[in-house]
Amino acid sequence: MQISDNWPGYSLDLFTYPQHYYGDLEYVLIPHGIIVDRTERLAKDIMQDIGDNDIVVLCVLKGGYKFCADLVEHIKNLSRNSERFISMKVDFVRLKSYHNDQSMQDMQIMGGDDLSKLTGKDIVGTGRTMKVLLNNIEKYKPKMIKVASLLVKRTSRPDGYRPDYYGFEIPDLFVVGYALDYNEHFRDLNHICVINDHGKAKYRV
Ligand code: HPA
Ligand code: MG
Repeated sequence: MQISDNWPGYSLDLFTYPQHYYGDLEYVLIPHGIIVDRTERLAKDIMQDIGDNDIVVLCVLKGGYKFCADLVEHIKNLSRNSERFISMKVDFVRLKSYHNDQSMQDMQIMGGDDLSKLTGKDIVGTGRTMKVLLNNIEKYKPKMIKVASLLVKRTSRPDGYRPDYYGFEIPDLFVVGYALDYNEHFRDLNHICVINDHGKAKYRV
């Protein structure tokens, strides 16, 4: 699903969001309900592709936890209503590569032991994060690796990385909400929103 560069978004007045973020946001890029509905379709596509294989979901924290939780829930519900029940294990890895709204050179990878078969992530921007992670996972020689990302950014410096499944291709904007943060703030916002200059200044570190 493409969100074009001139998409104006939705006015914040059309929705509810935490009062402590009043004045910090520009507009709603993707409302929560659309995120959930699109994720359900990704779950269906994934189930079709994995066939009879059981899966290990590797959730990339912290920004991927909402997407991962909703994706797992949808796979579970869809598989309950079908012939074959897919067995799932969920594991977590933590990556950190952003400071303020800038991607940093060094990346930290923490945790995760049973790395195989399927990964879920929040954003693919430069693709650098994902490449580092995949190099680490391939050492464990899983039968199949699939990457699902809620968002893919149209950045000016992409390095050719494309996830197997993604929810939305978005403009090169810094977004927050649905577990995505700006210096650890805004994870408790349901919708994916664009932060304004006031919000950036307020939570700058
Ligand atoms: N928002 C939050 N975290 C991120 C982003 C973003 O737009 N891009 C990469 N990490
Ligand atoms: Mg972050």
